[in-house]
Amino acid sequence: MTATTSSLVDARGVPVSNCQPQSLDDYETALLQFHSYFGDPTETLAQTLETDPEFVMAHIFIASALLTMTERQYLPLIREHVEQAEALADKANAREKMLTRAARQWMEGEWYQASLTWDQVLVDYPLDALALQLGHLTDFLRGDCFNLRDRVCRVMTSWDKSVPGYSYILGMQAFGFEECNQYDKAELVSTTALEMQARDPWAVHALAHVLEMQGRFDEGKTMYRERENDWAPDNGFAFHNWWHLALYHVEHEDFDGALKLYDEQILPGDSDFSMQMLDASALLWRLHLQGIDVAARWERIAELWARKTGTENGYYAFNDLHAVIAFVGAGRFDAAQEVLSAVEAAARANTGVTRMMAQDVGIPTCRAMIDFGQQRYQDVIDQLLPIRTLAHRFGGSHAQRDILTQTLIESALRGGNLKLAHNLISERKLHKPFTPLSQRFAARLAA
Ligand SMILES: [Fe+2]
Repeated sequence: MTATTSSLVDARGVPVSNCQPQSLDDYETALLQFHSYFGDPTETLAQTLETDPEFVMAHIFIASALLTMTERQYLPLIREHVEQAEALADKANAREKMLTRAARQWMEGEWYQASLTWDQVLVDYPLDALALQLGHLTDFLRGDCFNLRDRVCRVMTSWDKSVPGYSYILGMQAFGFEECNQYDKAELVSTTALEMQARDPWAVHALAHVLEMQGRFDEGKTMYRERENDWAPDNGFAFHNWWHLALYHVEHEDFDGALKLYDEQILPGDSDFSMQMLDASALLWRLHLQGIDVAARWERIAELWARKTGTENGYYAFNDLHAVIAFVGAGRFDAAQEVLSAVEAAARANTGVTRMMAQDVGIPTCRAMIDFGQQRYQDVIDQLLPIRTLAHRFGGSHAQRDILTQTLIESALRGGNLKLAHNLISERKLHKPFTPLSQRFAARLAA
């Protein structure tokens, strides 16, 4: 066995303690995998730990990366690595102790405290690419659009082209600009990132969001197809980029095209991955709202969510909403109600930010979807209208949460509340160019 070195630095000059020098190469590989979604950083570092079991950053990295998966099923493994990092505290440096604390805070439900701790790390170590990405993903999962942009901006003056991984940081910044509705900046920065590193699915995704929010669906389709080899094959984030491509098809009223992507790319087989399952549910719901028959697909996605009933429900309200959507789509109202009950229990028993998410957004949105499935359209409006503008609190992007507005418009149309429908469709007209889908809403209102 190679001797452990007490203090080294990574490729950006950030101090790393207590590891064998070659383990740092694995750390860099894992970081690149985490940035790019090509490969699995937790697998890479699990192998490293077999020969270098006291590599503190490997324990921290695995625990923290798994936390961002937002699934309760990973908590035992996360706990194991957090405890091992804590047991190595005497050999860890100040940064690693802070990173360990952040992982524990998140593990115990204090996502916001973890977010603050990662910021604290970045004050001292602005080139800590891991802390930055963990914070960035947490901002996304908490729906904190300003911090999605500003956390990256706070460290950006320390980065330039000479620092390894710079392009990926630009990709994060671009997504932050996009979620703050600064579309010109987002497009410029994501394009710059992609000129430096074409195989960056997160930067591609930031650009896709810009095109989505501006209704530029034809450009979006072209962009994705031209770059397909850079973001799609063997990529862990590809399902979500395929989902965005499917949204362009929906926006163009090409529902068959969207369903083809659903069948072939978004959910081609079984999945146990909530993030993939929620995109699948969300796409089916959008098609369902437009009257497209997706019954067989509802059965399948509902069955996948059913496998998580009793284990995942009540952990992250954003996931729970999409489980409810699938059950409602499949007509399984008892199962939907069971998820809602778990969200209500989380609103009573959880601590920290997940309690707020369940209480403020999870409960009303889950109730609204059940109401919609039972054709109680005024009840949908009563649930969604008061919380629509604060729904970002339970995470996701503007594009993902648009499902709430579309459900609201549809409820207003179906329930005969034409003044509200007019009001909401007017907002849509101003937010993005009048796409075929928006025209479809307006035509129905006129009819
Ligand atoms: Fe997205």
